[in-house]
Amino acid sequence: MVVFTGAGVSTESGIPDFRSPGGVWSRMKPIYFQEFVASEDKRREAWTRAFSGVAGWVGAEPNAGHRAVAKLAAEGKCSAVITQNVDNLHQDAGVPAHQVIELHGNASYAACLDCGLRHELADLKGPFLERGEIPACRSCSGLVKTAVVSFGQPMPEAAMARAEEEALACDLFLVLGSSLVVYPAAGFPLMARRNGAALVIVNREPTEQDGYATLVLHEEIGPLMSAVVGVN
Ligand code: APR
Ligand code: ZN
Repeated sequence: MVVFTGAGVSTESGIPDFRSPGGVWSRMKPIYFQEFVASEDKRREAWTRAFSGVAGWVGAEPNAGHRAVAKLAAEGKCSAVITQNVDNLHQDAGVPAHQVIELHGNASYAACLDCGLRHELADLKGPFLERGEIPACRSCSGLVKTAVVSFGQPMPEAAMARAEEEALACDLFLVLGSSLVVYPAAGFPLMARRNGAALVIVNREPTEQDGYATLVLHEEIGPLMSAVVGVN
């Protein structure tokens, strides 16, 4: 089995999703990759968002849904967790990092867009908030950005290749908490289904792919997965 998650698995941890009423995109516009690269103002806005915790990631804890997925992984019932989320909560819940495939990156650290050098947010926050210093690479002075894949930014090739491999190898593809509207990520459920896997979608609202699913459950993920997997 492969578990595929979206922002809906993290709302019970207090992190707003994107497209529910009141979701992130109802309150702010995405900053596109090209905007970040081209405009110092947009970089300043992006870093203000990142350090102000506006997305709700800072201090969030895994919820029952994450714990249920971690139990499935620990019991060897789930070979990989393909996630669109950047909040690190699957890893925090105990899914081994090598089993988490992050299609849209990770918000808990930053990286240089030129040389790839990793930068810790804690080192960047003070100079930005106290002196307005927009993060630049300490090695090559290139632009530094949180390790999240923005709209318009190339998808991580290795993660995409692993996700395709897992989608084609599984017999059950379980979607938890995604509206399935953002491609190429949303292509993996269909890829698994077309390859003969059963597709189960657990999502509060109907999704664009409900019609292809073997089973659709419009339920809250935490309570349902706790009951099914036996975690609290
Ligand atoms: N239980 C079940 N479903 C839930 C819950 C919950 N507790 N909370 C929210 N949902 C559902 C919502 O009904 C919604 O359909 O989760 C879905 C989340 O959809 P989106 O907000 O569109 O999030 P996601 O599908 O992850 O977005 C994909 O879009 O903006 C980009 O990069 C961003 O990774 C993100 C991508
Ligand atoms: Zn660099």
